[in-house]
Amino acid sequence: MPVDIFVIHENPEWLAPLATALARRDARLVDWNMAERSVDLTQTPPVGVFFSRMSASSFSRGNDRVPELTSALFAWLERHGRRVVNGNPALRLELNKAAQYSALQAAGIAVPATHAALGAAAIDRVLTDFGPGPVILKPNRGGKGLGVQGFDNAAAARAAVAAGAISESIDGVTLIQNYIHAPRGIITRAEFIGGRFHYAVEIDATKGFELCPAEVCLVPDETAAPSFTIIDAIDDDLRQRYEAFLAAAGIEIAGIEFIVDEAGQVFTYDINTNTNYNPLAEQVAGRDAAGAVADFLLAQAAALTASNAA
Ligand SMILES: Nc1ncnc2c1ncn2[C@@H]1O[C@H](COP(=O)(O)OP(=O)(O)O)[C@@H](O)[C@H]1O
Ligand SMILES: [Mg+2]
Repeated sequence: MPVDIFVIHENPEWLAPLATALARRDARLVDWNMAERSVDLTQTPPVGVFFSRMSASSFSRGNDRVPELTSALFAWLERHGRRVVNGNPALRLELNKAAQYSALQAAGIAVPATHAALGAAAIDRVLTDFGPGPVILKPNRGGKGLGVQGFDNAAAARAAVAAGAISESIDGVTLIQNYIHAPRGIITRAEFIGGRFHYAVEIDATKGFELCPAEVCLVPDETAAPSFTIIDAIDDDLRQRYEAFLAAAGIEIAGIEFIVDEAGQVFTYDINTNTNYNPLAEQVAGRDAAGAVADFLLAQAAALTASNAA
């Protein structure tokens, strides 16, 4: 009988690569689209491995309350002892960038100096005292770079806030953050599967802040000038810190984004508990992260079967 892997999500467009990888391994993706489901707390969940692809950017697909329903689902699954990959602890950080920064700092990982504020008046007060350098305003519940805005200085940011020209986060909280200048204009996203480093992607960030790696986001000319390049390693100390952070945070699959500034200092600014691996970059590098995710999930299923038999 094929093994079932339950995938919890709100965006069917993201499922194909994993469905294909599972099918190749004689396993089956069971689609739990939380935008269409309800949770019957009187029932017992099916036995299996549950993998969350719930995303902070759900609001951009009209699914702004689906993460809340998903959190209730996870509590139900956990109460029945089900194996949930990227369950509630991961979802909490996915939805709250400010909380990500505190968790990262607790793990000894540097983040850009950041304030969290609610509403124009509070944002303005923070900006009034902000240093002379460039500033980034971003939604606390972000995703895909939506609503991330850079300004040359705090005065320019204050003008935008006064003009009502900044986009509000779905949770109302705005982050006011030091802009980190990357000398080569690239940011790096390190991918982790099963809590272990898999590969990293260098991304040309000079074209804007909306850096969605998914196939569905590719623009036609990207074959000519690929802006996503896979690299096999990152700094060893950083990798170890990330792996320890993920273990402590209960996150098993993640993409962690960082920038190295002119002085060589690393700043980590975004944890994604959800990745669409870039197909072109993978083709060039001969990599298959969706296959690695499938292998990891099936290993969890095998461990379940073994412990049930014991
Ligand atoms: N502090 C920063 N300094 C420089 N660039 C930044 C900073 N924060 C974000 N960016 C740029 O904006 C992009 C989107 O920001 P990010 O925090 O990753 O939001 P999202 O969760 O929407 O992906 C980043 O990939 C990066 O290119
Ligand atoms: Mg990001």
